[in-house]
Amino acid sequence: MYIIQNGTLVSSEKTWQADLALEDGRIAAVAPAIPAAPGDQCLDAAGCLVFPGFIDPHTHLDMDNGVTVTAGDFPSGTLAAVCGGTTTILDFATQDRGGTLAQALERWHAKADGRSSCNYGFHMAVTGWNESTRRELRDMIAAGVTSLKVYLAYDALRVDDGALLDIFQECRALGLQIGCHCENGDIVNLLQRWELAKGNRGPAGHPASRPPAAEAEAVARCCRIAAMADCPVIIVHLSTEAGLEALNYARNIYDPPMWAETCPQYLFLNESRYGLPGFEGAKYVMSPPLRTDEDRWEIGRALLNNEIQTLGSDHCSYNFAGQKELGREDFTKIPNGIPGLEHRPALLFSEYTGGAGLTPEQMCRILSENPARLYGMYPQKGVLAVGSDADVTVWDPEAVWTITAAAQHHKVDYTPYEGMTVTGRARAVFVNGVLAARDGEPVQTGLGRYVFRRTLDEKDKRDLGYPINVLEFTTTI
Ligand code: URP
Ligand code: ZN
Ligand code: ZN
Repeated sequence: MYIIQNGTLVSSEKTWQADLALEDGRIAAVAPAIPAAPGDQCLDAAGCLVFPGFIDPHTHLDMDNGVTVTAGDFPSGTLAAVCGGTTTILDFATQDRGGTLAQALERWHAKADGRSSCNYGFHMAVTGWNESTRRELRDMIAAGVTSLKVYLAYDALRVDDGALLDIFQECRALGLQIGCHCENGDIVNLLQRWELAKGNRGPAGHPASRPPAAEAEAVARCCRIAAMADCPVIIVHLSTEAGLEALNYARNIYDPPMWAETCPQYLFLNESRYGLPGFEGAKYVMSPPLRTDEDRWEIGRALLNNEIQTLGSDHCSYNFAGQKELGREDFTKIPNGIPGLEHRPALLFSEYTGGAGLTPEQMCRILSENPARLYGMYPQKGVLAVGSDADVTVWDPEAVWTITAAAQHHKVDYTPYEGMTVTGRARAVFVNGVLAARDGEPVQTGLGRYVFRRTLDEKDKRDLGYPINVLEFTTTI
């Protein structure tokens, strides 16, 4: 048995002083004082916050974008995850155009099984919608894959509006969750051509071709189509005030739940990075792109207010040398995505506990409970309760350290947060009851297991909730 003593335990509703006993991969006891028996191991968590292990619901590891493969794979990405305090990730298995969902799932299992240091589950990105794909959805549920992603941008991945409605209908019927990448692909394609025609070939062409309106229009359309099918939807990587307004407008007039995710980059970085000298801006090319400070503040406010339910890293890493450089002459060829899996918890804690007033309860809701609930893992994960999985993040709120590429565990040659000094760090991280990392460094690798997820029931949907009628609308889409 492993006993975590003297810590402050955290749920989404309260903090309290208690010890935690971990045994056989489960939480065996939660009690004011758990005495150690001979053979037990103990960790003194005095001064620390003890969270249900953090869950990152949005990663892309070992992903081939058709031109190049992400620098980060499952061994390195999941190791980086536990070093930063994340005990479970949900990665995007992606259907090949013309391929089946079963093939994609098999490929992703081969990438992850026996090679992962944190627990992992898969969303299924549907890129080709037809009758056989429809039939395969039941097989996905039977395999523990209970969430899909669809793209409204990227020509190699996106589905049209008719397919979107059809997919929503199926998801509604089967109880599958569905996340949507909301950017208007036609508008992006046209604006990219315009930027290139104007001679804007560098990284600054990227945000210029993906304006807030391209996100807001797609959010509005996606929500309206989801409502036509009476299907709940998750807007992933929401980045703009305009997109949030479109979402809240839809929430106020349509029935099905509409949830949202944002990412650390949309809270802690801004669009000025695209103006960096030379080709440096390529390090920040991701979609949607970085936005203005006003967007950052509004998205942050919404996250703390539970208008946005989760914070995913959207970790999708490409080396600057040799990969980002593929777009040196043409910004549309810069591979989209940035690293962030390891640093997501520290960035949130450090930047938001001061002036923004993030409480431990909110941090637990955003990083643990909400993703567990939203993606069919609660109460197996997302809560410190007897019988739940023994995934635990012991958080030292006083640790001060500096993010650098040299010290990170991501397998990539830069970090967008280089030189940022942050407060708060994972003191100890347990995966399935075993100590996986300590003070940001690995202790034991390869502890991760596949997470078989269930579909959501009505209680899950009710419990997740979101505030409505909270905004005064300044624009109507
Ligand atoms: O730029 C990004 N975000 N790349 C990953 C794919 C996606 O859209 O999530
Ligand atoms: Zn996306
Ligand atoms: Zn993504």
